Amino acid sequence: MQYNVSFSALTRTALIMLCLTGLTISATYAEEDVTDIAAAEINPNYFEYKENFSVKRLFASRCSWCHQGYGLKAADGPRLSGSTKSKEKIIEQIAYGKSPMPGFRKQLKPWQIEALADYIKALPDVAL
Ligand code: HEC
Repeated sequence: MQYNVSFSALTRTALIMLCLTGLTISATYAEEDVTDIAAAEINPNYFEYKENFSVKRLFASRCSWCHQGYGLKAADGPRLSGSTKSKEKIIEQIAYGKSPMPGFRKQLKPWQIEALADYIKALPDVAL
């Protein structure tokens, strides 16, 4: 009986430890998500245009079917992290496209295009 009690206490402690390890690991990964860091680096003024603006959400809805991993992974379009293009060239490419990439000037507002360009320039040169 005595043995059972201490065993279950031990099991409980082990489970708690396991959960804590899991939490630590997920927290570490969340911290190291370079796309979140890049998104956080873009001009905070964009948030004045639209409450709760998220450049990653915009990217996911318009760009991710060709540029995956929030720009870190090549798919139908190239990887965007580490692009050697200037911010101005990137804005031009998003606005007017370059076959087979469509232009977005009719669907996106200038500040949204600029936010995407700032985000792409803020991405570090890493690949998924
Ligand atoms: C239909 C697929 C498609 C979609 C959707 C798309 N792209 Fe592209 N993108 C491409 C392709 C293909 C290229 C390469 C074109 C080339 O330069 O020859 C490209 C190139 C680029 C480049 C130039 C990269 C470099 O360094 O040369 C940027 C920047 C870019 N895309 C951003 C975006 C953004 C931002 C969006 C969303 C608003 C987007 N793209 C949506 C297909 C796409």
